[in-house]
Amino acid sequence: MNKKRFFKYKNLSLLILLFLTACIENAPMDSLSPAGPYARQIDDLFWLTFWIAVGVFFIVQGALIFSVFYFRDMPGKPEPKQIHGNNILELTWTIIPILILAAIAVPTVRTIFDLAREPEGALKIEVIGHQWWFEYKYPDYGITTANVLVIPADTPVRLEMWSNDVLHNYWVPKLNGKRYLVPGQKTYLNLQADSPDEFWAQCGEYCGLSHSKMRGRVLSLNQKDFENWVNNQKLNANKDLAEGSLAEEGQQVYLNAGCTQCHVINGVWDVQGDRIAPNLTHFANRNVFAGAALKNNKENLTKWLANPAEIKPGTFMPNLELTEKEIEALIAYLGTLK
Ligand code: CUA
Repeated sequence: MNKKRFFKYKNLSLLILLFLTACIENAPMDSLSPAGPYARQIDDLFWLTFWIAVGVFFIVQGALIFSVFYFRDMPGKPEPKQIHGNNILELTWTIIPILILAAIAVPTVRTIFDLAREPEGALKIEVIGHQWWFEYKYPDYGITTANVLVIPADTPVRLEMWSNDVLHNYWVPKLNGKRYLVPGQKTYLNLQADSPDEFWAQCGEYCGLSHSKMRGRVLSLNQKDFENWVNNQKLNANKDLAEGSLAEEGQQVYLNAGCTQCHVINGVWDVQGDRIAPNLTHFANRNVFAGAALKNNKENLTKWLANPAEIKPGTFMPNLELTEKEIEALIAYLGTLK
């Protein structure tokens, strides 16, 4: 095979591979497997539009292929009758598309208004975008958390959102469409999950170096578990750790190494000023960290604390030049924040 041909086939196989990635099953970001009423409304609208488009495609392509063969030139075949202008034909191909567009527009507009309406009895949660993580506040409960949004299952949730810096976009594909987070302006998004489950979120707008690592999780819990979660979140972190323990040592690292410049731990340290990073009061209860880019485990925490920018380029979390011993102690302390 010559070189030129090889590259042609290589590109083709790459293209096929790209298409095949769409066939993966149980993909956490699959917007075609809705898990709540809002996402289902969008999904229904998508399939209606899709099947209408499929119908149009086959009718138009069918007519085209039929014409190509039926009217093709053959020896001895006279030239078909030539015409100019046909009122009935022109009216038909104007009216049919109008009807098709109307059939799509009516449910589209209805869905847009349905999705925008504030649901009755919804739980209000504030979503604040930061480079590069999502912060969540529950004004009714006085709770602040990050990266993992915890919601009650089978209950409508109303998100009130804005950005602390640049444009971001909140997207939980299985629960609803995307919505912008704008600096100095509030936007709203409804979420509802059918049952207890975990969903993936992703920032849907390019917002700087680590945009791709600005992710999130939505955890829907049954009513009882949600209440327990809320009650636990309201508690301050335990300040009095066993004397001489590794965790106590870690608390000293937290207090003295510079973490307190940006990270709040309720009952231990409250940040003064406007530099803000995830509230760590119940850090150990979150299964992900660093903008949900990493699973919360010892190995990842060690890497992150040693050099945050290696994992999230551009991150505002500085390299505090911690020693191995300090990192170990800090991780032990973080493990107590339940
Ligand atoms: Cu935030 Cu992309």
